Amino acid sequence: MRMVLFALPWSLSVVIQEGSESLHGAFGETNQSELAAFTSYALAMPNNFLALVDTYDVMKSGIPNFCAVALALNQLGYKAAGIRLDSGDLAYLSTVARKFFHAIEKEFGILGFGNMIITASNDLNEETIDALNKQGHEVDAFGIGTHLVTCYAQAALGCVFKLVEINGQPRIKLSEDVSKVSIPCKKRCYRLYGKEGYALLDLMTGENEPPPKVGERILCRHPFNESKRAYVVPQRVEELLKCFWPGNKGEELPTLQTSRHQCMKHLDQMRRDHMRRLNPTPYKVSVSAKLYDFIHFLWLNEAPVGELE
Ligand SMILES: *[C@@H]1O[C@H](CO)[C@@H](O)[C@H](O)[C@H]1NC(C)=O
Ligand SMILES: *[C@@H]1O[C@H](CO)[C@@H](O)[C@H](O)[C@H]1NC(C)=O
Repeated sequence: MRMVLFALPWSLSVVIQEGSESLHGAFGETNQSELAAFTSYALAMPNNFLALVDTYDVMKSGIPNFCAVALALNQLGYKAAGIRLDSGDLAYLSTVARKFFHAIEKEFGILGFGNMIITASNDLNEETIDALNKQGHEVDAFGIGTHLVTCYAQAALGCVFKLVEINGQPRIKLSEDVSKVSIPCKKRCYRLYGKEGYALLDLMTGENEPPPKVGERILCRHPFNESKRAYVVPQRVEELLKCFWPGNKGEELPTLQTSRHQCMKHLDQMRRDHMRRLNPTPYKVSVSAKLYDFIHFLWLNEAPVGELE
């Protein structure tokens, strides 16, 4: 490899040239401007050299150039951080890059070079990462930008507060659209677990109803569909609704880490078919028989009776 890198300190340029001699044919067609860019980068940040290698050609130029600079850094007592792939077939490219790194480790006897960090980016989201994981790859870290700051699947979380009780008076909001009818009363909410340890359903009850008990059969009803109901004998009952309020009226807010751990634990206790990405089985949220009766009593009481002429 001929090198004319004027700004390059002598030691680094010599090392690159020496290194490249032994890389045989690998440097035939690397882009010299790319090599110059990598070298400037390494000079400016010898401890954080993570090169974007797909500007020209990953295998013909980016990777060999990166390795030349990484080897030079190595001889000068530094360690390159790794590479980033930002286009093309990330599964394939990461795999061949890994092979190349292992070959370098072997040829130059540089322990650990084969485990050089490979990062990947390029408009990644859950689907693309899921597909990559299924296919197999050698990527150590994914860079997610747009899809992290903007949730494409659901650009906004729609939340509406609805009054359910005022001064001890239960309130209901009616709508032609059943999914928009609110469930009246101040309530308690429980997660009931089955024999296999998975969550069976969540159950809402009125605030003053006795909580469901382990081993005791309880009728759980769909809040709006009379024919959808089931008896459940919970093996474990977990109260979900907790009042978090500073002072003695409620619990102290847990740390972010505790909340995250709790969330992961809950997800782990969901049946797999509720969690699959494609056509998941809907998870049931039901009401007690008493609350069911009350919802419909209130509904009938509040709904105006139409008149036909
Ligand atoms: C190398 O990069 C320069 C831009 O810096 C470009 O003009 C040139 O065509 C590239 N060479 C090859 C072989 O791709
Ligand atoms: C209630 O559930 C049954 C059984 O799934 C279904 O066939 C029926 O259409 C539902 N009724 C309403 C009003 O949604």
